[in-house]
Amino acid sequence: MEWTEEHILVLVLGILCRFVVVIRGFDNCLRLDDSIGGGDSTTDSNLFQYDPVEIGHVRFAEIEPGRYVRMKTLAVDPPIFEIPNFLSDSECEYIKELAIEDGLEISRIAYKGSSTNTQEDATRGTNSSLHSRFNDTIWKEKLVACDKDDDELLDPEEALACLPNLRAENVTAAMLSLMLMDLELDRDSDGRIGPKELWRTAEWTPMLAEEVREWIRRWDGGEGERFVKRWKGQTRISDQTWLSALPEDRHFLRELQDRVVALTKLPPEIVYTSEPMQVVRYRPGGHYHAHYDTDDVTSGLECRHTAISLNTSSGDEFVEDRCRLCRMITILYYLNDVVDGGETAFPFADLEYGSPEYEAKFDYDYTDLKHHCYDSNLVIQAKRGTAVLWYSHYTNPETGWMGPKRLHSLHGGCEVNRGVKWIANTWISVDDVYSRQRQYMDSLDSFLAERAANSKRIKCLEGDTRWDRRKGDSGLRSAGHSNSP
Ligand code: OGA
Ligand code: CA
Ligand code: FE2
Repeated sequence: MEWTEEHILVLVLGILCRFVVVIRGFDNCLRLDDSIGGGDSTTDSNLFQYDPVEIGHVRFAEIEPGRYVRMKTLAVDPPIFEIPNFLSDSECEYIKELAIEDGLEISRIAYKGSSTNTQEDATRGTNSSLHSRFNDTIWKEKLVACDKDDDELLDPEEALACLPNLRAENVTAAMLSLMLMDLELDRDSDGRIGPKELWRTAEWTPMLAEEVREWIRRWDGGEGERFVKRWKGQTRISDQTWLSALPEDRHFLRELQDRVVALTKLPPEIVYTSEPMQVVRYRPGGHYHAHYDTDDVTSGLECRHTAISLNTSSGDEFVEDRCRLCRMITILYYLNDVVDGGETAFPFADLEYGSPEYEAKFDYDYTDLKHHCYDSNLVIQAKRGTAVLWYSHYTNPETGWMGPKRLHSLHGGCEVNRGVKWIANTWISVDDVYSRQRQYMDSLDSFLAERAANSKRIKCLEGDTRWDRRKGDSGLRSAGHSNSP
């Protein structure tokens, strides 16, 4: 494990913060004293992680009784593994069909509650209560008044016609979408304003008016040109849907969860209570610029998955935006081969902190996977049926539980040049505050009991496997065993 300066800083801050009274940020998304620094110290479980050993290392993992898959290490930092034939061709087709049946929607970026937002809200904010500012219904109503084509989003023309704050001399619709993005009013960079973005543009008038004026001054001064040139396009261009494994007829998705349990060697209840599978479709021109699938443990905000269930939130939909994503593992499945483009890229995988190659990253926008896909240190080609697994967090060596985010897990989907790209994601959600993950799963006990009863694999395992974690790699088969299946 490589400890970067950031990690050391995080650790020091974590220790310091234990002595500082943490101000409770919002009624809805609590700041948690005990989450700072990475969780509580008593757990009865270790979260298993495969040892990547070295690039090219091959091992075999049993994903169903008697069925082994080959698992090759693609990177050590973060540990990334490529697993061909994790899904069969017909399974890939089936997942696509389910997604099409459910209907895909334009992907939007999660509005992550981060400490930056908090600060921004504090300096920009008014005294009105958070609740009134975030009230979903109010903002939806306001949006409807401006939304001439009823698509529940304000495109630049609608915004200019309806939001006086944004109107200024000579602001064209084309300029406005850039301005919205630059001023971070268009949080998800989709070029339009949704209800969750409207409150920002509508409420903080004097401040916003000044920012708009300043932006136009810069634009008129010639900065606009440069901005357009360096613009890398939307953060994400794709369609997506979520597939719940709960409906009776979706036994394949439940079977797949059991395959994931076997692969990850995690307690089944962690896998079962993680997010539903996400299916994503990219068309030509589609991409997802480099990002993290998870947030760091240091923000002091609640994990979204446990916050929603533990009802520490008031139930309004904006709560999600004030929480963080706590995803320890990503398993990404390619559902087809892509004719041209659409690789998955990790700009920093295995890049030594401070090395010349590392420093060179800062000469360009390494998150721009439309223009810099192949500058990434690891580029994985999409191949139907292949699963790619990586760890976005360290484990805490003292507790065995979730540790800090791995900074080199930054990744994204390169632009698709020809053909369509289909992927699915399984995210393993874990709260770094162990007691909260425990409480979350306990609150789902009856669901889990039913789920386990429906699970072929769990039925054939003897005894209670819930917290009976094997430590370390059980080493099913390792590289070099010529009789490996
Ligand atoms: C994602 C993601 C990469 C890809 O969906 O979070 O990073 O290759 N996708 O599509
Ligand atoms: Ca938008
Ligand atoms: Fe991702």
